[in-house]
Amino acid sequence: MIKPVKGFSKLSKSDKIEWITTNYFSDPKTAKRLIKQYWNSDSKLQQLHDEFIENTISNYYLPFGVAPNFLINGKSYTIPMAIEESSVVAAASKAAKFWMDRGGFKTKVIATTKIGQVHFMYSGSFSKLKAFFKSVKPKLLENTKHMTHNMEKRGGGILDIELIDKTEDLKDYYQLHATFETLDAMGANFINSCLEQFAKTFKSEALIFEQFSETESHIQIVMSILSNYVPNCLVRAEVSCLISDLDETPTLSKLEFAQKFIRAVNIAEVEPYRAVTHNKGIMNGIDAVVLATGNDFRAIEAGAHAYASRNGKYSSLSHAEIDGDTFKFWMEIPLALGTVGGLTNLHPLVKIALEMLGQPNAKELMQIVAAAGLAQNFAALRSLTTTGIQEGHMKMHLMNILNQFNATKEEKTKMVAYFKNNPVSHSSVEDALISIRLMANE
Ligand code: MEV
Repeated sequence: MIKPVKGFSKLSKSDKIEWITTNYFSDPKTAKRLIKQYWNSDSKLQQLHDEFIENTISNYYLPFGVAPNFLINGKSYTIPMAIEESSVVAAASKAAKFWMDRGGFKTKVIATTKIGQVHFMYSGSFSKLKAFFKSVKPKLLENTKHMTHNMEKRGGGILDIELIDKTEDLKDYYQLHATFETLDAMGANFINSCLEQFAKTFKSEALIFEQFSETESHIQIVMSILSNYVPNCLVRAEVSCLISDLDETPTLSKLEFAQKFIRAVNIAEVEPYRAVTHNKGIMNGIDAVVLATGNDFRAIEAGAHAYASRNGKYSSLSHAEIDGDTFKFWMEIPLALGTVGGLTNLHPLVKIALEMLGQPNAKELMQIVAAAGLAQNFAALRSLTTTGIQEGHMKMHLMNILNQFNATKEEKTKMVAYFKNNPVSHSSVEDALISIRLMANE
């Protein structure tokens, strides 16, 4: 068994690598070489990455791709995407081009309010707590003025603070439920700092509130934290076209395609097992842009799936219908995004991504990300309801399989040509590769 390590974070980077490779690898020398292979030769850039987190030993690369031909509210974009899944960028690009020729994406920010809560325990009279809250609320706001001042100058800040009685759910549990407008910042640090200040003021003022008994004055603050559930930081994306402008497929007329597509959406609306995969397809597009633009994809994921369950049952984020002779497909999704602060000012590729998008503000970025999600969902449903997903997916995965077999450049060219008209699977690629290798040796 490996002995626990003390003070690991204080070791130098090479000592950390030494410790890891000697303890966990059968071939420490090779492991060391592979870890170091991804270091950046620009030492300043490497240091930047080293300092993003604790205990950095290397960099973890993901492809940074682009999906061109997105027309969103009449403006065209090339969307940067950071993702490892073979078919995502290709699918987004294909869907973007399809909708560019049919008026593009129409998007709208519905609201931009964010939420934070101070969770506390109190065992006493609720009416006294209400009286205390009323008297302390101005002070809660006043004591955060030094933090909110700049945000307020730009039109944001704390929108409201409410006292919420949660004792039906949990004995003695109450909240200060605060709403915020954080403009172009995702706002996590701003919100959390305000909440921690509320908690301090709330606790100390309770000790001197005259109406409280000795026990009532001892409010127990449990924690102060923003919520990643942001149903009021919401964006809508939509595409629509005449049914006669849809594409025919070898087996489906335009109307049949529209109807089958809508059926697929209806299934995701009522069936959670399907809804999760359907929404995962949406998140393929969303996460890739969120990551490329330096935002927190875990927060976005958590908030999106919570929103998908808002009616008590997990359901599809997107919807579709035929309205007269028009096919409509749309989605609403909560997206708390920022274009200033955090990684946006630090990570060189995030800077590139934001410049490529024309330095969007947070509202514009919400709309771009929502369009990418809807495009991805459209592409997935179109494949699923026509050819099936594997055809396109495996074509894109072909390179990965060839790389696993260490195919040469020449072999790759031959294989790509061969698999244009043949189904791709792991074993079919292996067989084809073996046979061209045999032929080459004959
Ligand atoms: C794969 O990453 C995403 C899909 O499964 C989405 C879907 O089923 O709608 C293709």
